[in-house]
Amino acid sequence: MSTIQIAPDLIVNRLGFGAMRITGKGVWGEPADRDEALRVLRRLPELGVDFVDTADSYGPYVSEDLIREALHPYDGIVIATKGGFTRHGPDIWKAVGRPEYLRQCVLMSMRRLGVERIDLWQLHRIDGKVPRDEQFGVIADMQREGLIRHVGLSEVSVSDIEGARKYFPVVSVQNMYNLVSRKHEAVLDYCEREGIAFIPWYPLGAGKLAAEGSVLDRIAKRLGATPAQVALAWVLERSPVMLPIPGTSRVAHLEENMAAATLELTDEEFSELDDVGREESAAAKR
Ligand SMILES: NC(=O)c1ccc[n+]([C@@H]2O[C@H](COP(=O)([O-])OP(=O)(O)OC[C@H]3O[C@@H](n4cnc5c(N)ncnc54)[C@H](OP(=O)(O)O)[C@@H]3O)[C@@H](O)[C@H]2O)c1
Repeated sequence: MSTIQIAPDLIVNRLGFGAMRITGKGVWGEPADRDEALRVLRRLPELGVDFVDTADSYGPYVSEDLIREALHPYDGIVIATKGGFTRHGPDIWKAVGRPEYLRQCVLMSMRRLGVERIDLWQLHRIDGKVPRDEQFGVIADMQREGLIRHVGLSEVSVSDIEGARKYFPVVSVQNMYNLVSRKHEAVLDYCEREGIAFIPWYPLGAGKLAAEGSVLDRIAKRLGATPAQVALAWVLERSPVMLPIPGTSRVAHLEENMAAATLELTDEEFSELDDVGREESAAAKR
């Protein structure tokens, strides 16, 4: 697997793992099969995965706790976590960006993960009710104090990234992006120009293109792969700053997803998928 430099002292393999799916329904509580969730996490280093994305709000806490149980002391695996969302039930997410709360998020993630510093801490959402400079300011403070090594943002615009860069170097941006969800193209292009890692969430999404007989299906059949694998291979090829984090609660799916890193699309296949993906993304907006 090829690598990506998130920062000069943070280089990881280009296909990471998203640990949101190792929780209960609605990203709430314990997973349906806890043992399988632990097996998924323990399989990661065997498959060469050294970048795990999580958040305090996944569970809440369940994902970070399981990661510690399965992988501590991590041995070369980067655990990137996030904070800034409170949880009040399944599928309910409320952003809270008050500086004292963000500080609590970082300190509690450090405690749960069993680390003295978080390698990559990402602001899960900018809270619209709190001046964004106050949120960026406390993050800069925590980086200076050595609680956070590198900072990333999530679901942000180019203007947000530029605002944050006045306070600290932004090394990663985690926005929703996949073959058929392309509203963040401008942010991706900005990240590519500026050498910022772009972490697409929901990278396996393929919408209607996953259906039998579609362009995606035809290419998948030629490669002896699944449509989801080809969608992921396309995301990887889209930009050298791309660091996808497909998530799953099952070892078999994890192995299938990681195998996508070895798929090779021809230039024509890449462009054909690019065109139909853009069309599908635009149609979904109408
Ligand atoms: N920053 C944000 O706001 C944000 C938001 C959402 C997610 N994230 C992060 O991004 C990661 C990925 O996003 P995501 O989980 O929404 O999307 P995803 O990884 O594209 O898709 C995960 C879904 O696909 C299924 N799946 C995975 N591999 C499969 C396979 N080989 N065959 C069939 N089904 C498969 C999973 O179910 P099974 O468990 O059954 O495999 C799960 O329902 C998350 O884990 C999280 O770390 C971030």
